[in-house]
Amino acid sequence: MTLEKVIDDKIADLLMKIDKQKLPKHIAIIMDGNGRWASRKGLPRSFGHKQGVSVLKKILKSAKNLGCKVLTVYAFSTENWTRPTKEVNFLINLFSEVLKNEIKEIHEESIKIKFVGDLTPFPKNLKEIISSSESLTKNNNKFSFNVCVNYGGRQEIVKVAKELALKSSTGEINPSEINEELFNSELLTRGIKDPELLIRTSGEKRISNFLLWQLAYSEIYISDVLWPEFNEHEFLKAIIDYQSRTRRFGGIESLPNESLEDSQSSS
Ligand code: FPP
Repeated sequence: MTLEKVIDDKIADLLMKIDKQKLPKHIAIIMDGNGRWASRKGLPRSFGHKQGVSVLKKILKSAKNLGCKVLTVYAFSTENWTRPTKEVNFLINLFSEVLKNEIKEIHEESIKIKFVGDLTPFPKNLKEIISSSESLTKNNNKFSFNVCVNYGGRQEIVKVAKELALKSSTGEINPSEINEELFNSELLTRGIKDPELLIRTSGEKRISNFLLWQLAYSEIYISDVLWPEFNEHEFLKAIIDYQSRTRRFGGIESLPNESLEDSQSSS
């Protein structure tokens, strides 16, 4: 038996365990561990990022084929600017290259791509390719792929607060009208439903300023695998784990014909 056949069989086994009716529609991923993966192999960190791109392509395909609807990835945080200039420039070039090479296929697959974050500090050529990719794919409706770049959850929340304060001061809204719905409508992710599942790779157990508002009720799955070694098998394991959880949203699990006494004993 070939290695490919063994892997295919394992994936087929995992696929059988997945309930297609209970898929997380929106999955968010913190793709962590590129640098460590490369360093452990005695390679420059840039190799880890390149390998990370090919993993991302596979996971995007897998999520779409499975029937999920939205994938949001953390590609560059507001804190990533503190990395050495060489690495920052490498990542910026990588984003342009990946977009140039992949946008045709993304469009053919009817995927809508959106970049979430403050694009102002990026070079003109990257901003142009982002803008043309977004407008090319804006009417695609099979799947949404959101790439967070120069994104920070706290910065996003502050931006919304400023926006709402300004609207209040000009009388466009009354402060008493401010509620979660209005707040949502000012977020960079407006119009996108919150992720049901957050996956973080490399064993780190932090949110790292990612989608702070949007992840309020998301299930979190930590994989010990470094992002460049993450694969469809690990991805399906995360979904199976998600499906084994009971989502309560701060309430209690509601069971049919459950008496009040029974439900009070639930936690
Ligand atoms: C985290 O690993 C990874 C990043 C900061 C960059 C991820 C970017 C990509 C995979 C490219 C995606 C491209 C597009 C266009 C979507 P790390 O460097 O923090 O690893 P470490 O924690 O081991 O140092």
